[in-house]
Amino acid sequence: MTTTTLIDRIGLLYTGDPAREEIPDAALVIEDGLVAWCGPAAEAPAADERVDAGGRAVIPGFVDSHAHLIFAGDRTAEFQARMSGEPYTGGGIRTTVAATRQAGEAELATHAYSLVREMRAQGTTTVEIKSGYGLSVEHERRSLEIATTLTDETTFLGAHVVPSDVDADSYVRLVAGEMLEACAPYAKWVDVFCERGAFDGDQTREILSAGLKAGLGVRVHAGQLTEGPGVRIACELGAASADHCTHLTAADVDALASSGTVATLLPGAEFSTRSPYPDARRLIDAGVTVALATDCNPGSSFTSSMAFCVALAVREMRMTPLEAIRAATYGGARALRRTDVGWLRRGARADLVVLDAPSYVHLAYRPGVPLVHQVFHGGLLL
Ligand code: NIG
Ligand code: FE
Repeated sequence: MTTTTLIDRIGLLYTGDPAREEIPDAALVIEDGLVAWCGPAAEAPAADERVDAGGRAVIPGFVDSHAHLIFAGDRTAEFQARMSGEPYTGGGIRTTVAATRQAGEAELATHAYSLVREMRAQGTTTVEIKSGYGLSVEHERRSLEIATTLTDETTFLGAHVVPSDVDADSYVRLVAGEMLEACAPYAKWVDVFCERGAFDGDQTREILSAGLKAGLGVRVHAGQLTEGPGVRIACELGAASADHCTHLTAADVDALASSGTVATLLPGAEFSTRSPYPDARRLIDAGVTVALATDCNPGSSFTSSMAFCVALAVREMRMTPLEAIRAATYGGARALRRTDVGWLRRGARADLVVLDAPSYVHLAYRPGVPLVHQVFHGGLLL
């Protein structure tokens, strides 16, 4: 016999399900870790246990589809320099690579786990984790092996930058060959930082195509600092997501709109690099599916808070609160090609957040305030 739990007296349920996105005065039933029922409280079926939400809002757990959590070291000084006017170039990635290579496996794992815990406490129940601070066969493999202990959504980002002691052509060959082979068993996705100073269009295509051939799904860091070929390549290769999308041509927007590729916006990076935010309105108005993610990393965006990203998206990117919560849940799930998370409907995983607020709008209306009352992960209260 399984136990069923009724979450009752939900003031506003944001389901993330396009068929019925918001239900006022709602209830939800959990059975075997899944959503068994949700709808108006007055119609709720009986259950073994009852949780009183006390009029609070409930949302799906956030789906953070872009994070770099396997690293050591600290880049406070680089942040301070930026806040005194230095630009962000991505060059600091090599500082983190040096610290990460020096660190022991247990140290890296413990640190990454502490970031995942930090995320969970703030309502994130699905997180993608990239490698990319190892940049050698053994260090990338090790990073991904650690990542697999924390999430199913692991991404091989050997092509983050070219390490300082290697020439670019031989590094691309290494990434697309031996490194990919060593990392693929631990990775679901392959990613490339397609940017001036990192990897150009040809190199990006070569690495992503090799990843595809090895059975990995594709995602791309595209258009973060400059316009470039990344978005076009992502769409051509059927990538699940093109991430950043801060600098886009009209052709990029068209390509995204006519493909199944999600545009994942990472406003924490623009915040921390004091850069102009991506034009979310242009994308949404063109019909592009938009996701929001933290990009949590020690260089360009050291936040683990999806609520903070939602607030930035609303205030700085002219997304409505509804568009922002949708992008942080349903959008993130689309960016990971997941249908079991990111929404609350019959059969979905019971990943949900009870907010200390009457509506999800408070995530932007009350920025910086800890609004997470309870988090259920797979039906279990954390
Ligand atoms: O997504 N742009 C590339 N990678 C990260 C930043 C990494 C770093 O600065 O350490 C990003 O912003
Ligand atoms: Fe990133």
